[in-house]
Parts: sequence; C-alpha cells; structure tokens
Amino acid sequence: MAVAAPEDANGSMVVPFHGPDQAGLTVRPQAWSTFLALDLLAETDADGLRRLMRLLSDDASRLTSGEPALADSEPELATRPARLTVTFGFGPAFVARAGGEVPAWLGPLPAFAVDRLEEAWSHGDLLLEIASDDPTTLAHATRMLLKDTRSFATVRWVQRGFRRAHGSMANGTTMRNLFGQVDGTVNPGPASADFDGLVRIRDGGWLTGGTSLVVRRTAMDLEGWDRLDRPGREASVGRRLDTGAPLTGGGEHTEPDFEARDAVGFPVIAEFSHVRRARSDDPRERFYRRGYNYDDTPAPGQISNSGLIFACFQADPLTQFVPVQQRLSDLDLLNEWTTPIGSAVFAIPPGCDEGGFVGQTLLI
Ligand code: HEM
Repeated sequence: MAVAAPEDANGSMVVPFHGPDQAGLTVRPQAWSTFLALDLLAETDADGLRRLMRLLSDDASRLTSGEPALADSEPELATRPARLTVTFGFGPAFVARAGGEVPAWLGPLPAFAVDRLEEAWSHGDLLLEIASDDPTTLAHATRMLLKDTRSFATVRWVQRGFRRAHGSMANGTTMRNLFGQVDGTVNPGPASADFDGLVRIRDGGWLTGGTSLVVRRTAMDLEGWDRLDRPGREASVGRRLDTGAPLTGGGEHTEPDFEARDAVGFPVIAEFSHVRRARSDDPRERFYRRGYNYDDTPAPGQISNSGLIFACFQADPLTQFVPVQQRLSDLDLLNEWTTPIGSAVFAIPPGCDEGGFVGQTLLI
C-alpha cells in the first residue's frame, strides 16, 4: 500500500554520496548509526579489494539516493533514505594488502591504564559506518552491503548507536548521553573554522583529503551513576546537567572560567573534572567528536549494558587524540563510571566522483 509522504518528510532526504568527502564526515549526525568492522578473508588480495570497494561504493551510491541496490531483495525498503550515509574506513591490514603505505598512526593505540579492552570490540580491517534517521532503512542498507562482502570478508563486530529520534529536538541541538549530560558542546565540527586544519589530512599520499576515525566503545556504569547526587554529577564533568553550561555560569556555549574560585577558595570547575582534563593548552590536541549512545541487552543479573560509542575524527590520532586520552586516563573523575572496552583506528579515505569508488586513490 503506497501512502504519499509529505514533500518535506525527512524520509525522502538524500545526502549525496559522491563528492570530495565521504558524506558521513560532514553530514549533521543522523539519529541512528551502525559501526561495523570486517576481517578480510585470507584469499582477498588487492584485486579482490578493488572489486569489493567498487561493489560497496555502487551499493552505497544507490541506497543513499533512495534506489534499490543491484539485485535488491527488498527494493521497497530502499525508497526512504532519510539522510542515509555510508562511510568506509580501512584498517592497517587492508592498506597493507592493497600495497599502500600504512600511516604511522594506523594501528592499535597505546595502552591506557583505564582500558579494559575486549578483542570482540576492537580493531578490524574494514569499517562501514552506516547512518540514517530511519532504523528500517539502516537495517536494509546494512544487509545489502553485507551481502556483497560475503566472498571477501567476515563480520568482526557490530556496534549499534542512537541519538534522539529525528524531529524530537530542533536540528543542531547538542546530543545527550545516557548519563543525561549534554555531550558535544565544545567540538570543532564541520561548520567550525578549525575543522579543515584539525580533521583533513594534507600531503598524505593516497589519504590526502581524507581523515582518521578513532572508535572507543566506552561502557557507562548507570547503576553506579545512580548513587551519585546531582552536585556530584555536575562536579565530575564541570558542567550543569540541565543546560550543559559550565559551572562558572552562562549558557551552554559560554566559555568555562577555569580560574574561578568558590567562597572557600576551591576551583569552581574542579581539577579532576572531565572538561578541565580533556582541554589542552595546545590547540592542535583537538578532534571532531561524533559519537552515539548504545543500550544493549544486560548480562544476567544486571539491568543495563549501556555506554557511548565514542567516535572522533582527526588528521593524526597520535598527536591529537592520544595526548588527551592519556591525560584523561591519568586523572578524570568520570573514570569512576566509564570504562573503555573497545578500541579501533581506521583511515577514512576521501570521497569519490560518480563512476569512481571509495578507496580508488589506494587501489589504483
Ligand atoms: C567534553 C562526556 C569520553 C574528550 C565532554 C562533556 C561531556 C563529556 C558531558 C562536556 C560537554 C562537551 O563539551 O561536549 C563524556 C563521556 C565519556 C567521554 C560520558 C565516556 C563515556 C571522552 C573521551 C575523550 C573525550 C574518551 C577523548 C579522549 C572530550 C573533550 C571535551 C569533552 C575534548 C571538550 C572539552 C573542552 O571543553 O574543551 N565529554 N566524555 N571525552 N570530552 Fe568527553
């Protein structure tokens, strides 16, 4: 049964697949995102990788424009893209097998004391981040893409994330994580003047114009967080829960005053607070955060299995992300309730033009 959708319905919105960037980097974050890592089969060689990326790019260009993939088994599910994007990322083994130069930062991050990493949530040869404002579209696109990977790779991990549903908040509202915090306020996103310099890779050979993605699955202990009162919760981050404003006053986007002291002389934004520890004096130590909440099936005897798929883009994880993660690992009150359980780094190649495919600069 076909029911005409209003012309401005979000379901018909298309984010163009082709262009200098992969669209998932610059699009306003969609409501749903699936991060999916694959391991290449031993027999997948450079030729195979070229065929695979041609196939996947073709699927992605059709599906993101609201058309069925070739030989789509459920073509009706493809008609409402709802801003669908598909973003591809390469792990070190992918690049090596393609015969390309593996950047020094493309590999496991250094170990941090806070890490409790599980192999099941870490690493991977090929990343697909598939995101849309419609979960049915997302499920369909994921299935179509995965079908085409079957002769080349196996699924290593899948992380499904969400933000607010489309339409429940004004576009551009900063997300909230499952601790209830406004999360993503100070963030050099695509509209910021710093974005190009911080995120895009210059003179990177096949990766020129691309970027890197760090994915850190971080468990959040909601039951432990329940035992903390509101002032304690706000002190741990240095911001208010209602508006996301710094504890030194103003609105969400007011600059925190790290020098301010209370009546007895203690810093208003504590030394151990997440925002104080996460901010560097070095303006190069910044990145674009674009994470998603997760809320999975609890283990027996538990009532939650929740957290953040922390994801961030930067030109160089070693000089931008690592120093910040190291400082947070050394001291950050939030560590009481948050634990990194997965970690992966991917090279995100630039986008492609019509007729081309993502990864063509590597797989020429
Ligand atoms: C800021 C939460 C993990 C880096 C914030 C803010 C919140 C938050 C509520 C304040 C609002 C904002 O500016 O976004 C969390 C939670 C985490 C987490 C719940 C884990 C579950 C991380 C990690 C990193 C990080 C792993 C990087 C290694 C930052 C940065 C800021 C920030 C750079 C902005 C600091 C500034 O004001 O300059 N985070 N965060 N966060 N966080 Fe996190």
